[in-house]
Amino acid sequence: MKAQAYSIAIITTVEAAYATRPDVMRVLYNGMYMGNVIELPGLIDPHVHLRDPGQTDKEDFYTGTSAALAGGFTTVIDMPNNLEPITTLARLERKIEEARKKTVSDIGFHFGTLGDNFAEFDAIYDKVKGLKVYLNITTGGFTVDPGKLAAIYEAWQCDKPIMLHAEEDVLSLVFQTIKDQPKTTHVCHVSNQKELEFVIRAKEAGLPVTCGVTPHHLFLTDEDAEKLKGYAYMKPFLKSKADQDFLWGHMEYIDVIESDHAPHTKAEKEANPPLFGVPGLESTLPLMLTAEAEDRVTRKQLIDRLHTNPARLFSIETTADTHIQVDMSEYVIKNEDLLTKCGWSPFAGHRVIGKVKQVTLRGQEVYKDGKVVVPAGSGHVIA
Ligand code: DOR
Ligand code: ZN
Repeated sequence: MKAQAYSIAIITTVEAAYATRPDVMRVLYNGMYMGNVIELPGLIDPHVHLRDPGQTDKEDFYTGTSAALAGGFTTVIDMPNNLEPITTLARLERKIEEARKKTVSDIGFHFGTLGDNFAEFDAIYDKVKGLKVYLNITTGGFTVDPGKLAAIYEAWQCDKPIMLHAEEDVLSLVFQTIKDQPKTTHVCHVSNQKELEFVIRAKEAGLPVTCGVTPHHLFLTDEDAEKLKGYAYMKPFLKSKADQDFLWGHMEYIDVIESDHAPHTKAEKEANPPLFGVPGLESTLPLMLTAEAEDRVTRKQLIDRLHTNPARLFSIETTADTHIQVDMSEYVIKNEDLLTKCGWSPFAGHRVIGKVKQVTLRGQEVYKDGKVVVPAGSGHVIA
């Protein structure tokens, strides 16, 4: 315990030194030469697509949660747009069973609806973290007729968040629905000025609305899409530099940085048309730490959006013995270093700061220097 408190004290001192003297970022850590290492709490990503069961050629619970640990995430919450969407208790239970066997991080689940499965709701409230509703076209052909939104809000008798995939075109309907039925709502992957303005208006009107933004919308624009082609194809699409600047300029309204980790095979991304989605678990933290080094975000804003806020919004228990060590040296993101099964990143080639060296989950070392060091199934399923 003493050694831990001592090492945290050194790290904090070194962080302070880093602010003024990057050149003095050389520390003795627990008697070992560690280089530029900082410690952060275990990160929480409430928006990932781990594809299991059904599409384990893209990812599975073992590879997806290995990628989570490699990116510093100790808890992820998985979306319901599996090949067979998670819209029944039976499918949810099968998914949970699969996760129990394979997960190496902690993992929770969101339930899905097409507006025709309300009879299932009572049985799943205590097994999920939220309800996902897709109001726009995306992977899985799982889009809900917006006309059913009010009935879905009515049927969801639970204070866990309703997670909306709601792009610009459906936002006035969404606003009216939440005004009529003020249930906790999280707007996923806000991607442009109009969408964030909607969130700001809803928050200012006192509605129970929060939002997430993805790293790809913060660090890529439609200009990158021309270069990356299918590898930058996702929903919502990448937007203009002006939209991106608006997101950065209104960080105080963004509650969560969510990776929307959505792996597809290279063949699927090179097809015509490509499938929507990009992996993000292993690039989110380094991109944000790089932005911090460039004074675009503070350490506190980063921890709030990658840990504190998602923990509060999704009632995730956090403990002092879950934390990560991050090497603050510069490196280049390379496809061959990734643990995600899809084996590519839209950020390959980006020079970043901050590689996760070590992850401790509930006091146990689970990841060290590029490798998961616990057996499949050692993470917890949370609800
Ligand atoms: O790009 C996306 N991919 N957006 C989504 O909303 C879903 C995701 C996926 O599941 O592939
Ligand atoms: Zn998603």
